[in-house]
Amino acid sequence: MTDTTNHDADQGSDAGSGDMFNTAAGWVLFAAGLGLGLSIVAGKVFHGNDPQRPDTLGYVIEGVEEGGDEKVEMTMSEALNMDGVDVSAGERVFAKCAACHTIEAGGANGVGPNLHGIMGANVGGVAGYGYSTAMSNFGGQWGWDEMNEWLNNPRSYMDGTAMGFAGISSIEDRAAVALYMNANGSNLPVPEYVAVAAEEDEAVAGEEAEVEAEQDAAEATSEETAAAEASE
Ligand code: HEC
Repeated sequence: MTDTTNHDADQGSDAGSGDMFNTAAGWVLFAAGLGLGLSIVAGKVFHGNDPQRPDTLGYVIEGVEEGGDEKVEMTMSEALNMDGVDVSAGERVFAKCAACHTIEAGGANGVGPNLHGIMGANVGGVAGYGYSTAMSNFGGQWGWDEMNEWLNNPRSYMDGTAMGFAGISSIEDRAAVALYMNANGSNLPVPEYVAVAAEEDEAVAGEEAEVEAEQDAAEATSEETAAAEASE
């Protein structure tokens, strides 16, 4: 890296206050050079020099298949059509909700609103229940994907919600409980799942994961550069 040479020359030649500035500027250049070098290395690690994609895709996809992030791995429509994901499985999952919610027609509002007919209903629309402002202003309806994302992590889906529930990590359980709610006063059509399309989704998801990893690496190096600049 030529920056280091410049930096050494600066230190050797000048004296006085200008020297301090040059030294600092030298370090900034050095840090920037280092960051650039790292991102080039990162680029090689993720891509290699050969632009061809290998026949069998690399470890990124394998990791996904082994079950890292379920949202990447499986869509709601796939989960809804899986063996064992059904109304009775959903009834068991609903035990987690029953402390705060009733589901039968005309059931009382408790800590949370009665959920009879909630699938397809307006968000925050149960009469006589005092919603948080977050939920009453949210808008929209409870479709399959909305319910999936909400139950995965209520607080990240709806900032400021009063639902004190951490969420359900398994997409099969989220799908099952949505089917159970759908069978109690709603009758939304269950989305079909076409296996071929889903395989393509997985390939796309794998590529996205790769791109994300690359972006992470780039962000990390630019953070390092920023940190180096800040500490001057
Ligand atoms: C600790 C109590 C609690 C638990 C457990 C809980 N909820 Fe809730 N839930 C609430 C509260 C409170 C609200 C209203 C949130 C607000 O106003 O921001 C709510 C709102 C909802 C809504 C929106 C209703 C509407 O009218 O739009 C749905 C759907 C829902 N919960 C589903 C569930 C499901 C399914 C489970 C179980 C997997 C569950 N909740 C578990 C307290 C709970």
